[in-house]
Amino acid sequence: MYLTKDEERIYDGEYGWAKQVSIRILVKLGDLYGADRLIPIESAHISGVAYRTIGDASIEFLKELANSNAKAAVRATTNPSSIDTMNQLFSCLPRNVIEKQREIINLYETMGIEITLTCTPYYIRRPAFGSHLSWAESSAVIYANSLLNAWTNREGGPSALASALVGKTPNYGLHKPENRRASVLVKVEAPLKSEADYGVLGIYLGEVLGNRIPVISGLRRRDEMCLKQLGAAMATSGMASMFYLDENYVGERSFEEEISVDDKSLKASYERLSSTIEKPDLVLIGCPHSSPEELKIIARYLEGKRVRDDVKLWVCASKYVRRNADEYVRVIETSGGHVICDTCAVVTWLRELGVETLVSNSAKTVHYAPLLSKVGASLSSLEECVKIACGK
Ligand code: F3S
Repeated sequence: MYLTKDEERIYDGEYGWAKQVSIRILVKLGDLYGADRLIPIESAHISGVAYRTIGDASIEFLKELANSNAKAAVRATTNPSSIDTMNQLFSCLPRNVIEKQREIINLYETMGIEITLTCTPYYIRRPAFGSHLSWAESSAVIYANSLLNAWTNREGGPSALASALVGKTPNYGLHKPENRRASVLVKVEAPLKSEADYGVLGIYLGEVLGNRIPVISGLRRRDEMCLKQLGAAMATSGMASMFYLDENYVGERSFEEEISVDDKSLKASYERLSSTIEKPDLVLIGCPHSSPEELKIIARYLEGKRVRDDVKLWVCASKYVRRNADEYVRVIETSGGHVICDTCAVVTWLRELGVETLVSNSAKTVHYAPLLSKVGASLSSLEECVKIACGK
């Protein structure tokens, strides 16, 4: 891979150990995937923040970086942590895990990385059209490529952090126009109604597409909430990082395969995904983290209602979105719900927080919660979730 003189100096350690180890990670990755050079990025989004998922070994690595004076070279944001430190609900967790989580966050902050703790950094600042990014967090990657026309590969935590410290990423994969062409046409014949149905479609497509890019036709709803659920679910069950809506695709229309999706195909995915739960402990909305518009819709459904005493209602969102949606947060919390920031149901300790069963409008949460937290999970639309929380 070609390196500029300055990049060679970083590679040889003239700018310190942290930058050296970072550029070496990027060069290794670039060599592996046939990149010709490094390209500048507008921003990095870093996963590997939740103590529950990264554990102690990663803390040692972060400490070494921070102690070697590592500093972000571009704007860099962070994915959710394991705890909402501002919410009393989490104070029952053991002190040592709360402290470890704080330590991780402090280390990122020392490196000049923004402590956004959200998987929807695009609600805080939208990447420029056509910009190159180095984002981890699969739901944000597919959103950026498909709905914002920003260009990013699906990074892991270490490569996104390395890119943040160097300000560059290897030029391969979805950074190259020829790799952003669609190869499959998906014709949706099933009548999808809610955003949860879009999640089921996403789970199905993720499984059948692998990492191929589809053009999707036949979608009746194209609102952001539905498309966000579709993308997050596609990236959950497969390696999808991008999709096109039919009307937005201007590339060559010679597809290697056409796939029709009817009710029957989706029914099987829905049944595999969801177990029936009569009375969940937790109703979870906000995976990926909610937009202001979603908070508005939830508040509208909740207006004048009361969340049942035997159910928790969590609505996850970033601090930024929470701050800017005061009026809706008030309605949600007055009715007994909690607007949770900085974490989510998948990366926190659900069982320790008293959750054994949950219902969510997010196919991603319903897919991961049983695997990672051994809780029962079922899928319902947002409207239905609110009804369940309030006892219909
Ligand atoms: Fe975000 Fe957690 Fe879902 S990180 S996409 S809310 S699993």
